[in-house]
Amino acid sequence: MKRAILAALGFATTMAVPATAEDIKVGLLLPFSGVYAALGNDIEAGFQLGLEQFGADSGATFEVIREDTEVKPPVALGKAKKLILQDKVDVMAGIVSSGVLGAVRDMIDGAGVPLIVANAGNDEATGAACSPYITRMSFSNRQINRPMGAWMAEQGVKKVFTLAPDYAAGRQMIDAFAAGFTAAGGEIVGQEFTPFQKTQDFGPYLAKAQASGADAVYVFYAGGEAIAFVKQYDSFGLKADLPLYGAGFLTSPLYVNAEGPAAEGVITALHYVPTLDNAANTAFAEAFTAATGRAPSEYAVQGFDSARALVEAVKAGATDRDSLAMALRQVRFDGPRGTLAIDPATNNLVQPIYVYETVAGEAGLTQKVLAQLPAEADPLNGCAMPAVTTN
Ligand code: BEZ
Repeated sequence: MKRAILAALGFATTMAVPATAEDIKVGLLLPFSGVYAALGNDIEAGFQLGLEQFGADSGATFEVIREDTEVKPPVALGKAKKLILQDKVDVMAGIVSSGVLGAVRDMIDGAGVPLIVANAGNDEATGAACSPYITRMSFSNRQINRPMGAWMAEQGVKKVFTLAPDYAAGRQMIDAFAAGFTAAGGEIVGQEFTPFQKTQDFGPYLAKAQASGADAVYVFYAGGEAIAFVKQYDSFGLKADLPLYGAGFLTSPLYVNAEGPAAEGVITALHYVPTLDNAANTAFAEAFTAATGRAPSEYAVQGFDSARALVEAVKAGATDRDSLAMALRQVRFDGPRGTLAIDPATNNLVQPIYVYETVAGEAGLTQKVLAQLPAEADPLNGCAMPAVTTN
């Protein structure tokens, strides 16, 4: 608890450990302010819980130094530089925005510091711009949206209008959705990209969707933008005639209750929902709720699994930047999301995708799983990675 309080105040935190333990310095680079601040806080809560649960018997101490990216690529670059050169961290974890990941990629790769990506789905980071130092414990933008496009077409949805914020994640998610949807016979009848972190009134875009002749709308929005979008979509009166679909960040358990009844009936796809019925998820959900007073979200589980991946790498004998990077590429475990494995050809995670509907439950809104789409490794997309070597 004391450690959580210190972390919340921005101080470095350390776990209790044997005197002979290795000291692993972790730079946690997350948005603690700006439109994705709640996401950063949830990832951090999951990360701390993961260190507590898995780190205790690792023989290592984990010192966490947290820095706020403010969801601004230039700010994130400065903070990454500080963590690498001044704090001399052994490993970094975090990054929520695909734009921020794109900005820090070359610095991470050039410095040879392993980065565990705990959210940002930027396809390039495990595609053409892949690096042996970048390992993903979250998802790729393609991984969620392309199969959802195919699934929607198979359900009989024929014409879709798309909307997303105008930055790397919005563009990649919509491109992937459109590729899956059109390959399965669907038609994109209109697309709009809204200024990222600046759009407060979605009305003009919703009017275009309404006039487009679409029979559904597909979007990516997350955090504060998701709350505003879902509420405005409902109050615009569109939900009944133009069903709303999206990447599941739209109705994340982290903020779905702030969206309220406007979120009911929205159908989305994601790599994690807290209602998954498996023993690891039940234990995680109980522990996370006990620690924070709220149900875990996809952000929380990404933080939790990132900490576990780090501990697994340390338990496998990794002690410095290079050995940690190599060990992270070989991580595999059964967690709340099911069986997780890193694909060493790209360092992306291979995992199933769940289609879920947001429905009213006994204690507020909840997630009803409609379909499980198979786990598939992303194509290389130009990634040329050195082979994994074992000691
Ligand atoms: C991204 O920028 O990659 C992202 C941000 C929030 C939720 C999901 C993805």
